[in-house]
Amino acid sequence: MLKRYLLAPGPTPVPSQVLLSMAKPIIHHRSEDFLPVLDSVKKGLQWLYQTKNDVLILCSTGTGGMVGAVNNFFNKGDLVVVINGGKFGERWTEICRAYGLKVKEITVEWGHTVSPEIVARVLEKTQGVKGVFAQASETSTGVYHDIKSLAAIVRGHDDALLVVDAISALVAHDLKTDKWGIDIMIGGSQKGVMMPPGLAFVSVSEKAWVRAQSSRLPKFYFNFIKERDNLSRNQTNFTSPVTLIRGLNESLNMLKSEGLQQVFKRHKRLAHATRMAIQSIGLDLYARESPSNAVTAILSPKGIDGQTIYKNLRQKYGITAAGGQGKARGIIFRIAHLGYSDRFDVITAIAGVEMVLKELGYPIKLGTGVAVAEELLLG
Ligand SMILES: Cc1ncc(COP(=O)(O)O)c(C=O)c1O
Repeated sequence: MLKRYLLAPGPTPVPSQVLLSMAKPIIHHRSEDFLPVLDSVKKGLQWLYQTKNDVLILCSTGTGGMVGAVNNFFNKGDLVVVINGGKFGERWTEICRAYGLKVKEITVEWGHTVSPEIVARVLEKTQGVKGVFAQASETSTGVYHDIKSLAAIVRGHDDALLVVDAISALVAHDLKTDKWGIDIMIGGSQKGVMMPPGLAFVSVSEKAWVRAQSSRLPKFYFNFIKERDNLSRNQTNFTSPVTLIRGLNESLNMLKSEGLQQVFKRHKRLAHATRMAIQSIGLDLYARESPSNAVTAILSPKGIDGQTIYKNLRQKYGITAAGGQGKARGIIFRIAHLGYSDRFDVITAIAGVEMVLKELGYPIKLGTGVAVAEELLLG
């Protein structure tokens, strides 16, 4: 028997009480059975997002939310700035270009975080920027971008909206939507909220709703103004994914009973223990200056392919972590500590990495990293 451990940065494990809530018989999405559930989820998402604004619920993966964030607030020919420091930064550029926006990229070396000063300078020098697009946690590199500083900069430019892909950062990082002034922020269900794939969430500020009125890009399935009107009646525009929304209600209740600050603290602690344990066995972090609390990206040691570590973890030990994507493929491997994640997930991951590395001929004293993680996670 090979017991499976899911330690990837999405999909992430789903707690049994959430799974069970989704096993209930199907209810009708326009009925009195369902409307209170959607009402509860709507409020729960506002709590998680730390916003009084609408948080739309879409039946799609996170990328659907990213697409909707482009075609509901912008026009063909609009000039936007994309912070591109990884696979998902690239995706912002691809989506914007697909809709005819003009993209000015601020490229960030993979593994590094964007310099807010550079963003400020670009915005000062460039006339007519309609939006700034960024990732909070760039999952492909394990980097956290300083959204608080970016929001402070974009706030100074009345015409620009700040659009944040928080698909892997939500729950792992304290993102203060209203306090910082994030205009549009996207989340996805298969990450921090401990749910299967299939839902995207998008918060929309008042400033962004004003902009939505003048967006002429084609839209049908992702029509955010229609979604907002439906949401005010605890409905969605089309058939609601009732099963997933029920599950989300359960998972949000779990997070609520833990407490928002405690949720962030847990992620910070698990991420810290992972980084320290990994470094104690002589490996280097890929994201050194600003690591994400959702996922740790690790440089594979000289002479060992990162994909081999990932594959051996999975095939021999049942641990599904992640390899590298795009140009980081082969160079890194990644371990998530996101969502339904606790101390023994970190200890399992570190133990697995040690065992795989030893078998691959890397000089290691088994238990070194595990001991470091245990010390940090005591109590
Ligand atoms: C930062 C980030 N953006 C976007 C996506 C894409 O989300 P999805 O695969 O749910 O469409 C992911 C998924 O891994 C992600 O981590």
